[in-house]
Amino acid sequence: MKKTAIFSLVIASFLMSCRSEKDQPGYTFMDDMYSSPALRTHEAVANTPQGTSAMLPVEGTIPRGHVTYDLANSTEGYESSKANSHVPANFADMDPAEGKVLYNIFCASCHGAKGDGEGILVQREKILGIPGYDEVRLPEITPGSIYHVIMHGKNNMGSHASQLTYSERWKIISYVMQLRANQSPSA
Ligand code: HEC
Repeated sequence: MKKTAIFSLVIASFLMSCRSEKDQPGYTFMDDMYSSPALRTHEAVANTPQGTSAMLPVEGTIPRGHVTYDLANSTEGYESSKANSHVPANFADMDPAEGKVLYNIFCASCHGAKGDGEGILVQREKILGIPGYDEVRLPEITPGSIYHVIMHGKNNMGSHASQLTYSERWKIISYVMQLRANQSPSA
């Protein structure tokens, strides 16, 4: 008897799940699981800490592959970076040529393609006071100090941190060091 009841229930649910109109979905059991309530990304909702469906990452979250730079935009920060405290281990093995294209895009308009401080913006007098990279005008710069200036900018030079990735910055620096060698009188 029990078996017959179960059997007829199974048959009944089979039959109920079939419909003659092919475009109709038929009966749905547990509708909220079948089509879960969708939220727009930044929709206001009551039960998250920020009150929106998309939540902020936990404080201190860093993107995968991101390299932090914690030296402040100050003289102390500059000096610490200048002592090459943050230079990557493989810097000496980098091929300066790899930074050339990036340098020409991001730096040459001011510093000049040769690094002589005679970029197109200087020639057109849009900006003045751009140093060449030679040892006479910039006797003390190091790869580390260049990194600091790329990250924080300096006076009329804005920060380029958001425009370049970590490895792109070091490629550019490697190229700047080559330009510096070419520009310096001892070369
Ligand atoms: C809008 C023009 C402009 C651009 C673009 C620019 N710079 Fe500069 N840069 C300057 C100016 C102006 C200074 C001089 C800052 C000062 O000492 O007052 C400077 C200074 C420097 C110095 C010397 C900093 C020091 O320690 O005294 C370096 C190194 C440097 N720039 C590298 C770069 C690199 C690398 C790029 C490209 C990623 C770049 N600059 C892009 C304007 C620019």
